[in-house]
Amino acid sequence: MRVTRLCRRVVSASMVMLLMVWLIKSIDPNSNVEKQLKLLKSQGNPNSSRLMWILSKPELAALFQALFLPETAGLNSEFWNDDYTLKDLTESTRVASGNKLWGLRFPYYTFDARLTAAVYYKHVQNSQHRGEIMFSWYDWKNLGSVLNPLITSKPQENPQCQDIFEAPEESQRIVSSSNKWGSFPKASLENSLLSSYCTNSQKSPIGFEVHRIQPHSDAESLVLQSSSFLFSGGLVPKNLVFLSKDGPAVHTSVKNSAAYLSLASSDLLEEFLSSHDELESTLVFDPLKEIKNIHSKPPFPTPKPGRGFLFELSPEAFEFDLISQKELLSQSEFPFEREFSYLSSLRFAQSYDSSGDNKFKYFYESSSIQNHPDNFQNHMDIRFFSGWVPKWKRLRTLNSLMRTWLDFTKSENLTSWLAHSSLHAYLYSGSQFPWAASQNVQMPIQDLHKLAMFYNQTLVIESPSEGYGRFFIDVQPFIFSRDHDESLDKVDARFIDIDTGLFIDILGVGFSSNALTNTRIMSQLRNERNRNPDVLTPSDDESGSKPLEDQASYKNSRFNRANEIVSEKSGKSYLLSDISPLRISKYHGKQVNIPHRALTIAKDEFHIVPWLFGPKQRQEKHRFVPALGSWLDLPTLKALLGPRRVQEAHTITASQLEQALESLLEKSASHCEEMLSWFNSQDQFKFRLEELAIESSNLDLNSKYELLQALQTNYRDLPSSYKDPFLHEKKERKWEECTKQANTAVGSQEYSNIIIKEVMKSLVKAFVANHGLKLKHEEISAHDNISQLAPTSLYNLRENSMEPLLEAPQALKADFTL
Ligand SMILES: *[C@@H]1O[C@H](CO)[C@@H](O)[C@H](O)[C@H]1NC(C)=O
Ligand SMILES: *[C@@H]1O[C@H](CO)[C@@H](O)[C@H](O)[C@H]1NC(C)=O
Ligand SMILES: *[C@@H]1O[C@H](CO)[C@@H](O)[C@H](O)[C@H]1NC(C)=O
Ligand SMILES: *[C@@H]1O[C@H](CO)[C@@H](O)[C@H](O)[C@H]1NC(C)=O
Repeated sequence: MRVTRLCRRVVSASMVMLLMVWLIKSIDPNSNVEKQLKLLKSQGNPNSSRLMWILSKPELAALFQALFLPETAGLNSEFWNDDYTLKDLTESTRVASGNKLWGLRFPYYTFDARLTAAVYYKHVQNSQHRGEIMFSWYDWKNLGSVLNPLITSKPQENPQCQDIFEAPEESQRIVSSSNKWGSFPKASLENSLLSSYCTNSQKSPIGFEVHRIQPHSDAESLVLQSSSFLFSGGLVPKNLVFLSKDGPAVHTSVKNSAAYLSLASSDLLEEFLSSHDELESTLVFDPLKEIKNIHSKPPFPTPKPGRGFLFELSPEAFEFDLISQKELLSQSEFPFEREFSYLSSLRFAQSYDSSGDNKFKYFYESSSIQNHPDNFQNHMDIRFFSGWVPKWKRLRTLNSLMRTWLDFTKSENLTSWLAHSSLHAYLYSGSQFPWAASQNVQMPIQDLHKLAMFYNQTLVIESPSEGYGRFFIDVQPFIFSRDHDESLDKVDARFIDIDTGLFIDILGVGFSSNALTNTRIMSQLRNERNRNPDVLTPSDDESGSKPLEDQASYKNSRFNRANEIVSEKSGKSYLLSDISPLRISKYHGKQVNIPHRALTIAKDEFHIVPWLFGPKQRQEKHRFVPALGSWLDLPTLKALLGPRRVQEAHTITASQLEQALESLLEKSASHCEEMLSWFNSQDQFKFRLEELAIESSNLDLNSKYELLQALQTNYRDLPSSYKDPFLHEKKERKWEECTKQANTAVGSQEYSNIIIKEVMKSLVKAFVANHGLKLKHEEISAHDNISQLAPTSLYNLRENSMEPLLEAPQALKADFTL
């Protein structure tokens, strides 16, 4: 990749490695330099600091590249050392001491996902039997940023329950603290008792325990509520699943403990330390190294046979009969305990349901928070809500959610496929829309039950070769039926990012007694019936003397099974033949299942114009710009091309593109992150273009499948277009620190921006020069007509305006499988 080579060149040309390491150390916030700088600042003379080391331009440029450009082994290990060492841990660890009464003093520290993962991997590697393992949310999510101040402060300075919640019966009697919490936004409890939400407790290092969250509150209040809720053990995962690139995932179950624990004083840490004998400053918590050790010892994992390119789903996968399942288990000589208790809990939910009680809502989203800053903030699980999420962090998180979900389902042999807006987004670029606030997948009801039985309340840990994501699987209780009803949760399960609360919606699909409302399916069935009069019609009935309502639902149920109509809980229906056979494609660069008639399904729900791009291709105030393989919002497009050329964004030539990108940079460095996302998503878009070229060609279906499969075999996983959210945030903070100092020293806030612009300009050059297709072609040329199938037949970035312009291709006219 040209971009990479470019980085290396700049780095090695400009780099004096040792100097750099020294420089970076010198800007450690605790160093003397920083202290002196602060001193000078406090004397009101910030610019006269002669004592400060300033990163030179090439050094800052190299730092920027190391932090934000695609990773290369050379860059990360030699030049930019950002390892998390034992020294980092010991420096941030303190035991909260003093006047509180809890028995065990709570050792607090600054959260780092790498520390936790490395220590747990080490333990898993050591323990052959893989017994139960300790767990505290404090070690898995950055609760410390909210709670450490409470843990360390004097009890009288901490909030109490009545500072966080406002219960009507108590508002008269109890006066809020007179400290700063007196004016903290309170969550109103309406008619509930305060004690069912919160109790003051000397046992807790923060002085109170939250048992329940009131979602109708201010964001600030919700962050404190949810952090305390998790810290108080309001939700504990049952299992941990550690994904790994090199072998099967490792499963462990969690030990339930009422005590307040943290890794900093645990046996797990002890165990880790005793098996490493490096010095404090060189002992690195490196999850990647630890997980490699797990799979380097016998028994060596045998790779599981992958599924074929096409995967047929049987109608049985869409059936789930609770009663017969339970009977089957109770008759078996050795009933599986887990299965049995799971079925009992389903049975309970069912009886609860039929008793006529109102069902309760299971999932609560951030949509109930007051004062949203924008419309993208409604899709976070309140239990993990940690504040508003800005655009790029949202996109990074959704990317890592999806890539990990795809790895997880593949590893555990669960079937799922893209649905709704995720399927829609896939069709264009093979990646999410930039306006996505969540992702959507569907599963056959049988797989949903497998997910519930084996993985409900499981924390899934991303493979460290991918990133440091941690995701919680939660399945709501009312999943036994697909019948459309008034239930308050339309989704069956969620895969939730525990750092932000963002999630993937998981929807089970199965047979139901829902009446068919999809007009496309109705007319399709009508046509088939005209051709083949034997097909069952809804008027066939044997329902006898049942009440009218039951008769209707009985008829519908028979009709749906006879015609293989399956549906979601929401009532949305599909023909089994719309979905099956699933075929393999890529989404966010990872192997994914796509339903058989993806475009038809998406068209049931969205207005889709046939053109892949062009003036008519507008959605959510964005346009699809094929030269960038991305959707651009109108303000950005205007800034890039000028207001008059927005309509012709797809006709841009290579030299115009280079100019436009450079002048966009000239205007402001603030587009840098967006620009990097365009550059980084090229491989994924080009892969999708290759597919589209095959799909929209006039080959027969089998030849298309053959070529699509060859494409899959040639390109395994594609690199992620987004950085790992956890590491990225650390790097951003580092960059801010360094540039703030440099800017201050130079006396110009623009200093670092100028450097960003320079680095980005050389990237723009490389990007435009390299715009030809990076994907190799030779191996899929088994077919004679392959030259006609080059993606350039769908989109070609012209060198100049003399080259003829391709018409916008009608790649999304009709499903190629029809
Ligand atoms: C994976 O699941 C499918 C059914 O969904 C089953 O046919 C297949 O045997 C399973 N494969 C493995 C390796 O367990
Ligand atoms: C998943 O676990 C939660 C918490 O234990 C429980 O309330 C819920 O009913 C479970 N879901 C299913 C389908 O069993
Ligand atoms: C000091 O630097 C700041 C920017 O960092 C600038 O705004 C200010 O004018 C400078 N002061 C002097 C006295 O040069
Ligand atoms: C290849 O293209 C030619 C003309 O475009 C056509 O006649 C021929 O049938 C095609 N071959 C295959 C295998 O599709």
